[in-house]
Amino acid sequence: MQRRDFIKLVGGVSLVAIAPSLIEGELRAADGTLFKTYNKVQLTDADGNPILASKLTKEENYVFNYPHVGTTTMLLALPKAADKEIKLVSEDGEEYIFKGGVGKESNIVAYSSICPHQLTHINKEDTFISYTKTDEKTMACDHGGVIVCGSHMSAYDPHKGCKVVGGPAPQPLATIVLEHHDDDTIWAVGVLGPDKFHDYFKSFKPEMKEQYGGKRKAKKLVKDNAQTVVLSEFTKDIIKY
Ligand code: FES
Repeated sequence: MQRRDFIKLVGGVSLVAIAPSLIEGELRAADGTLFKTYNKVQLTDADGNPILASKLTKEENYVFNYPHVGTTTMLLALPKAADKEIKLVSEDGEEYIFKGGVGKESNIVAYSSICPHQLTHINKEDTFISYTKTDEKTMACDHGGVIVCGSHMSAYDPHKGCKVVGGPAPQPLATIVLEHHDDDTIWAVGVLGPDKFHDYFKSFKPEMKEQYGGKRKAKKLVKDNAQTVVLSEFTKDIIKY
């Protein structure tokens, strides 16, 4: 990462260092609402060791909780570099720009798992949203290499900022902004695009209680590091269509 970081104060609460490239140009909407910084958090494995970008298995579904303790994020090492400068549009018509992936191959991306259609998301019991490998088939789209929400068959292209490529989803999945450092470590620093966190916390109170010990605990922001595991270790059941 370029070390010319500087500090940005957002909403009076989050003080984090982010790379200049992330706050240039059109990454944030003019009113600043589409890009939010959160705690800068290092991705680690279950034993607390840093996740290294070059060691990720391509097309594996990884998951970590970010930016809240109770919100799940999908991490992917795509088979090729993610596209750059993709113009995306929220359901309210606001435009924002997906800048691309991180890592040596620019293929590492992360997205909130909360489907903007009806809030299906990765959880510890059963999971209907996940990445379908390039050579796998899905009913949601005529090709693999997409994230599919099996609840109503929405498909998102993770190479293009999770642009909707099938089904009823009204907007892309929110991007979790990553940094890749010179020592190959990966850090989550913010959220790009319209997220559904507010609706999600309102809609899943029993789940928050069961899986995170209550809504208040689930809403806490993740600090320092985020344990990152393969999806099959996080959830009991992965349902794919
Ligand atoms: S909730 Fe994801 S497609 Fe409906």
